[in-house]
Amino acid sequence: MGSYRLSARALLDLVGELDPSRAVYEMLAERIRLLIMDGRIPAGTRLPSERELAARAGRSRTTIVASYQSLRDAGYLVSRQGSGSSAALPDGQSGRVDTDRVIDFARAVPPPVAGLEALFASVSFVEALNGPGFDLQGRLSLRSAIARRYSERGLLTTPEQIMVTMGGQHAIALIAHTVISRADSALIEAPTYPHAYDALRRAGARLVTTPVTTDGWDLDHLLEVLSTVRPVLAYLVPDFHNPTGASMLPEERTRVVETALASGTTLVIDETTADLDIDRDWDDGPFARHVHRRSPAGSDGVITLGSLSKSIWGGLRLGWVRASTSVIRRLVQARPAGDLGTPQMEQLLAEQIVTSLPQLLAQRRELLREHREALSRLLTEHLPGWTVPAPHGGLSLWAQLDRPASSALTSVCEAHGLSLVAGPKFSIDGAFERFLRLPFTSPIADLNEGVRILARTWAQLSESHPAGHAAPQGLEVV
Ligand SMILES: Cc1ncc(COP(=O)(O)O)c(C=O)c1O
Repeated sequence: MGSYRLSARALLDLVGELDPSRAVYEMLAERIRLLIMDGRIPAGTRLPSERELAARAGRSRTTIVASYQSLRDAGYLVSRQGSGSSAALPDGQSGRVDTDRVIDFARAVPPPVAGLEALFASVSFVEALNGPGFDLQGRLSLRSAIARRYSERGLLTTPEQIMVTMGGQHAIALIAHTVISRADSALIEAPTYPHAYDALRRAGARLVTTPVTTDGWDLDHLLEVLSTVRPVLAYLVPDFHNPTGASMLPEERTRVVETALASGTTLVIDETTADLDIDRDWDDGPFARHVHRRSPAGSDGVITLGSLSKSIWGGLRLGWVRASTSVIRRLVQARPAGDLGTPQMEQLLAEQIVTSLPQLLAQRRELLREHREALSRLLTEHLPGWTVPAPHGGLSLWAQLDRPASSALTSVCEAHGLSLVAGPKFSIDGAFERFLRLPFTSPIADLNEGVRILARTWAQLSESHPAGHAAPQGLEVV
């Protein structure tokens, strides 16, 4: 602890844009405090000196001194002569103050699908002992099962076009490192699934964004960015998008594919959430069905990734990539730098799961429907000022609050035993203070209790920051 030092630049990247309507020292302190509570600045991390931060941020030293002082007063910073200032948690606590039990509205993690136990019992795991035990691309029998499912859903696929990964996130990171070179531009949606932009950034991408709302994509904007910026890669979640729940219409998909191919952009289509249909009245099959020609500009076309984490169980850590055989070969070559293959026993189980998917997904759909309805009902009753459209699938609601105070709400709820992720976590620039992602994956009793805490805390915040005064802003607490 304490050995890691955060540069002024890295700190300012984490802090993001500051709202010009509020005192800079106060906002900076609030954001740093939330980053510390969140764990994104671990306790013990040395922060840049006041002088260094002032120079890098282009602010006066007095402003930074005041920010650090307020963090010190609240116990989030300890300063020692000669060794600078380090992040701390007050009284060594995690930020929670008055309860031991935490209700989890932070992670959209559904329980294992009904029927999974029976499948566990039916798999002969000793088969894993035949053969070398690890391979980079995945067991042929599992790749065949995944390829068959694509083919049945209208996208002809061979096992050579599939690589098995350890979940969707692993696939995103591997693709990012393989396709992106330093300073390439990459398009992402705003809001989007945060660990995808983490992976793209870490691969060296410069990110550009296109908006998505609960009503869907701004197609003109998306096509315009594709044709003017010509990003090397565009990462999209077209089915039950995380966090908005929106789905891209079939005719929009065709236009996105055409424009991306013409611009030399490789589309990375994340279908991790695609099997989470509750009541969408259409199914367009896999997105890559819309590719009807090779890219004239030499992109890799469409790379699709999928996962069993949301539809079946996150504990499996089982995902895959579907791409051209040449892209799969490149991914196989790149993989050993990070890992040497997906565990065999999980693959054996996954093969059974993929073969039984229709029945398992029917179970999943019932649970999601019941939970979505329960959470929607609770929010209508307890937080009538919020706008919360019900998505046709996915795992969460993207709630619009009646004031931009998502981070403040998140941080205070944490102290009352409700863990949340504020809207800004889903953006790269601190936007979406007016939004909150609310997963409906917890047990119904927890949904009940969680919404009560949410409503009580919102009412308290509204009293302390009456309309007209923006509540404290900052980064989220995960
Ligand atoms: C859109 C999206 N992609 C990928 C992932 C990560 O999937 P996995 O758990 O399979 O790594 C998530 C998890 O939240 C997600 O929402």
